[in-house]
Amino acid sequence: MTVSDADRVMYECGVEVLHPGGRDKTDEMARACQVGPGSRVLDLGGGRGTTACYLAHTYGCDVVAIDTSPDMVDAALRLVHERGLQDHVSVVQADAHALPFASGCFDAVLIECVTTMLDRARAFPELRRVVAAGGYLGDLEMTYRVTPPPGFDADLREAWGGFTTMPLDGWRDLFVANGFEVTHVEDFSDRMEHLGRTFVKDLGVAGVARLTGKLLARPGLVRDLAGWEALLRRGRGVLGYGYVVGRRIAAPSD
Ligand SMILES: C[S@@+](CC[C@H](N)C(=O)[O-])C[C@H]1O[C@@H](n2cnc3c(N)ncnc32)[C@H](O)[C@@H]1O
Repeated sequence: MTVSDADRVMYECGVEVLHPGGRDKTDEMARACQVGPGSRVLDLGGGRGTTACYLAHTYGCDVVAIDTSPDMVDAALRLVHERGLQDHVSVVQADAHALPFASGCFDAVLIECVTTMLDRARAFPELRRVVAAGGYLGDLEMTYRVTPPPGFDADLREAWGGFTTMPLDGWRDLFVANGFEVTHVEDFSDRMEHLGRTFVKDLGVAGVARLTGKLLARPGLVRDLAGWEALLRRGRGVLGYGYVVGRRIAAPSD
């Protein structure tokens, strides 16, 4: 079972977005990235397209959502059609490590809970490449608030298919090392919620009942989710959440 399997089941049950902080943080990042009418935006690892549709509808921008998972791409395409946003949102199956886009073709790249799963040494130069000079990159991820206890890092990596993270300052440094001037850093770790409570809030009682039904049909998934919940409990006070926004500095070659 991979994280993507669990993502899919949760999405099927009505979980709209799989990142902490919900829509409020999406709005904060979009504003910090100066997203507005006509902006060309990349939603990297966009899942089922909820954020891409929301951004296009709310800010009047044009969004390309990419994801490696064909299921997510299908779900996102369905949503785009349902919402009648075909002229403003396109969905492409693509890998963040090798983006099929011309250099400098986006005014903003927004990322929510994806780069912890990537080879960042390969992905960040790609991100830099596709952002126009003066454009923005915003990335919201799980972080370490303090040094994790021995073994915790390895357990997270194993449980979540290669997941690795670092303190928010480490994310900030990554932006700087890749040619971005950091404009915003936000730590909202204090709002980290119990996984179960988050689902109840997102799905309501009926949704939780549906999720429970689907889970009971997949004992392996129940076991994995229980393991993740235990990991998050172990990580209380250790794991946090935050985002960084940076503006791409123009290079002499631009
Ligand atoms: C935790 S989900 C977050 C989805 C969405 N951003 C949200 O907030 O709901 C991570 C997503 O990243 C996608 N993903 C993982 N690796 C990727 C890669 N190398 N390139 C593009 N997408 C990727 C997964 O398929 C999944 O849909």
